[in-house]
Amino acid sequence: MIRSVVRGSGAALPRRIMKNADFEGMVETSDEWIVQRTGIRQRHVAADDETTASLGEAAARAALESAGLTAADIDLIVLATSTPNNTFPATAVEIQNRLGMHHGFAFDMQAVCSGFVYAVATADLYIRGGLARRVLVIGSETFSRILDWNDRSTCVLFGDGAGALVLEAGEGAGSITDRGVLAASLRSDGTHKDKLFVDGGPSTTGTVGHLRMEGREVFKHAVGMITDVIEATFSQAGITAADLDWFVPHQANKRIIDASAKKLGIAEQKVVVTVDLHGNTSAASVPLALSVAVADGRIKKGDLVLLEAMGGGFTWGAVLVRW
Ligand code: UT7
Repeated sequence: MIRSVVRGSGAALPRRIMKNADFEGMVETSDEWIVQRTGIRQRHVAADDETTASLGEAAARAALESAGLTAADIDLIVLATSTPNNTFPATAVEIQNRLGMHHGFAFDMQAVCSGFVYAVATADLYIRGGLARRVLVIGSETFSRILDWNDRSTCVLFGDGAGALVLEAGEGAGSITDRGVLAASLRSDGTHKDKLFVDGGPSTTGTVGHLRMEGREVFKHAVGMITDVIEATFSQAGITAADLDWFVPHQANKRIIDASAKKLGIAEQKVVVTVDLHGNTSAASVPLALSVAVADGRIKKGDLVLLEAMGGGFTWGAVLVRW
């Protein structure tokens, strides 16, 4: 059977790093509060010349280089983002153009923080359905542009960045020893739309709007939703937590990551944590974490890797990949 196999990965971060202490003169907060409640120590913030398209392009180029490919080898670009350069056209098409790619097709996918997990699951279906052989899956965000910088309950949490994978059609035997995407489980439920949203949009206010979040409410639902969707993925693949080599969760809050891993029985040393370095970068958080763990040699060919995310909507999902 056809499997969607990871051939390369890459990432890109804005030049400017903002430390927790940099917020102390802006809003009533402290490094101690931010570290204790979230695990975040710093985040990258985009300058005017750094956009979702430019960061996405840089991550895509890095992923292509690590795959030993060029844009000429790609059939499809799926970009997960909630902070597109423009309302339309899709920022994926802008990245396609920036890469000098004038064949194939590209589109954006909007599932907020779950965007990258949705995008990997979607790319897998395009590959297995025969519509594409090689797909660039990108998560790129500039959440700094939609933050209310006077709201301490949100502005300290988010950061900017991008990460990308090249997925390629490969042959598998249909067992969980195959390399590639092995199982996926996606969920959404609009009951919770007012707990994490942006208060503007083209069809309502005609403005871009700002991110609003009832953090405690999101926290309350997060662990249960994450563990449910992961258990569904485990049962699809016929595995348990003990079979995993790496758990690469959405990086929103260290306390959520720890509680989810504990509930699932995933050993602490198998959990990839980068929230301290990047903050919550929404759809970019999982591929950024992946790129760190690939670069430092933790994630290797043949490893069983679980990706997970949960975010606005709510949306949530998990994907199991043999690297
Ligand atoms: O990526 C999408 C998914 N998003 C998430 O997963 C986020 C989920 N939520 C969270 O991570 C946490 O709820 C937060 C980090 C947002 C907040 O942590 P918390 O432990 O739930 O704190 P809280 O909202 O209950 O607030 C505790 C106190 C409040 O003061 P009072 O009402 O107790 O006097 C807040 O006003 O902390 C206050 N507070 C702050 N204090 C200092 C809120 N933000 C700050 C701040 N600095 N930046």
